[in-house]
Amino acid sequence: MPKTLLAIESSCDDTGASVFIDAKIASNVVSSQLDHKNFGGVVPELASRKHLEAIGWVVREAMERAGVDKQDLNAIAFTRGPGLMGSLLVGVSFAKSLAQSLNIPIIEVNHMDAHILAHFIEDPVPHFPFLCLTVSGGHTQIVKVNSPMDMEILGNTLDDAAGEAFDKAGKIMGLPYPAGPHIDRLAQQGHPIFSFSHPSVADFHFSFSGLKTAFLYFLQREMKSDPRFIEDHKADIAASLQKTIIDILMKELIRASKYTGITEIAIAGGVSANSGLRQRLTEVSAELGWRSFIPRLEYCVDNAGMIGQAAWFKLEQGDFADWTVTAKARM
Ligand code: KG4
Ligand code: ZN
Repeated sequence: MPKTLLAIESSCDDTGASVFIDAKIASNVVSSQLDHKNFGGVVPELASRKHLEAIGWVVREAMERAGVDKQDLNAIAFTRGPGLMGSLLVGVSFAKSLAQSLNIPIIEVNHMDAHILAHFIEDPVPHFPFLCLTVSGGHTQIVKVNSPMDMEILGNTLDDAAGEAFDKAGKIMGLPYPAGPHIDRLAQQGHPIFSFSHPSVADFHFSFSGLKTAFLYFLQREMKSDPRFIEDHKADIAASLQKTIIDILMKELIRASKYTGITEIAIAGGVSANSGLRQRLTEVSAELGWRSFIPRLEYCVDNAGMIGQAAWFKLEQGDFADWTVTAKARM
């Protein structure tokens, strides 16, 4: 009998479900909430309601695409945190209820671990230990991954996350939320001709709030003398901002590689979808002899495939969650 796992992701504004059969991904369905665009950011209350609307059909769709029935499931995994409490609760409750009705175990997954373990969904997979630069809307970390269950955080952001830096700077430019993909697209048509000051912090750590302020003051100054400045220089502004963020990230990643002697290097999280970062990592890897791992786009952004992969490692060890488990916004 094949072993079958259903995984659910609902930490922020994407409702995801994925099915794994015998350690291989069989389906990966994501429903993205577009409603937050009008508000310039994710509205937690709205996000949880939308999860509740979507979760039923997203799970059904994932099971249909994988060709499995509820009775085939051996375990159900869910994102426990970190994330928005109301959003997480929808996934946790759904997973628990379905598992109770089927009398099968549940598996809790840390969303950030899952972003990293997404690298094991497809070949080639990194060898342990490897370094992972995890860059999303809520996190910016350099993690030393010793095994699927043993990860050491070497560096963290002291304020904003890299994705937040993209989104907040984009908002200043008048771009829709989330601005990261828009800046990426604009940057491809521009040149990084502007520079913005930003502080250096301790080894392997990051700070983006100073960059945001420098960016804001730069634009305010330019707009005073030329009210069309943003409109006329959108692509160059985006390219300059993106280059600065990538410079900050890569400087610490290179430092961490030199310090640990590890040359297996991965990137993960929503910002790893950035074409500039992907290109820079490829270039630096060639230069420094790194073996680098860049996930497919669908596994960079929030998705349940990565939750399924992380859960599979736990399933193999019989590492199931207690029925009293609940969501955790920060972990
Ligand atoms: O991992 P993710 O989907 O959700 C969180 O767990 O936060 O990451 C979302 C973040 C957003 O800040 C978004 O702007 C950013 O990832 N992002 C990008 C790109 N695609 C998504 N940032 C820069 N370039 C992109 N292509
Ligand atoms: Zn994420």
